[in-house]
Amino acid sequence: MIQRLEGLNQNALRELDAIKDTPTLEQWRIRYLGRKSELTGMLRGLADLPLEERKNAGAFANRIKAGLESAFEQKNGALKAESQSQVLRTGEAEAAHGDITLPGRPCPSGRLHPIMETYREICDIFVSLGFQIVESNDVELDYYNFEALNIPAEHPARDSMSTFWVDYENDRGERTMLLRTHTTCVSARVIHTMKPPIRVIAPGHVFRYEATDATHLPMFNQVDGLAVDKGITMADLKGVFYEFARRFYGPERRVRFRCDYFPFVEPGVEVAVECAVCHGGGCRLCGSSGWIEIAGAGMTHPKVLERGGIDPNEYTSFAFGIGVDRIPMLRYGIDDMRLFFGNDLRFLKQF
Ligand code: DAH
Repeated sequence: MIQRLEGLNQNALRELDAIKDTPTLEQWRIRYLGRKSELTGMLRGLADLPLEERKNAGAFANRIKAGLESAFEQKNGALKAESQSQVLRTGEAEAAHGDITLPGRPCPSGRLHPIMETYREICDIFVSLGFQIVESNDVELDYYNFEALNIPAEHPARDSMSTFWVDYENDRGERTMLLRTHTTCVSARVIHTMKPPIRVIAPGHVFRYEATDATHLPMFNQVDGLAVDKGITMADLKGVFYEFARRFYGPERRVRFRCDYFPFVEPGVEVAVECAVCHGGGCRLCGSSGWIEIAGAGMTHPKVLERGGIDPNEYTSFAFGIGVDRIPMLRYGIDDMRLFFGNDLRFLKQF
């Protein structure tokens, strides 16, 4: 009998160890500790044994019963604690993220700013015409922004480009650093560093110390262009601009070149396209002129090439500077430039 009890005890404990949920634990309890269990049967059968044996076996059987009961309680407690901590874990997740059964929140995808989109469109066209994109710093030396472009210190052209000076002085106590007023300074750097044949465009921010209103900001955007090669003429400049206008504005828009003055080109021109609304007749959009100015351009001044180390007797060059900001303004009918940089998503989301 002692042996049978021992075997039973061992089986019961081994099975109990493997139990992972309460229903199986309950089955185990019925099987080993229930009224119809083997152990209960054996305890009942004790009465038939001789006195001595009954005492020993009885004490042993009762100890085993007590051991199994306490093992059961322990397991029961452990399973309950585990299921509670699971509930707690889901509870924590809910507290942190809200109702975890709700569908996820949509994640809005960004898109390009209308100015950036215009940059890309312009650059794509010139790249396909063989131009290379060059970029430089917003902070520039006085030399490349003015001097190298034939605008010496006392030149009146500096008046139309009042700039932000950087609080820095060179060895001779001169202020020589500024925020660039045009990306033509990047073309100047190219003339000083690259060897012809050259075809580059320089997109970027430019800065002028000006009062802010609907059409003026202290920061705006330009794409400057430069081509240097043997035998380049004004016809090349016109050809490139006709092609640019045809692709950017459509084949039916006419392009106009008129004389203009910029110190770094000779001759200099202003490039305009026919107004999309009135087709040359004159309306509010184009200020009754019928034309919309899109760029300044011209044949690079021989002095500018010479200063950069390119022989103007061997090479000729054309240059142009396109204003970027007015393009989406005209395209979308935006009458206040400040909206572009106000960071108001209600405005930006429309494009
Ligand atoms: N840099 C001039 C400006 O900001 C625009 C310009 C005119 C650029 C003629 C050029 C050019 O490259 O050839 O007003």
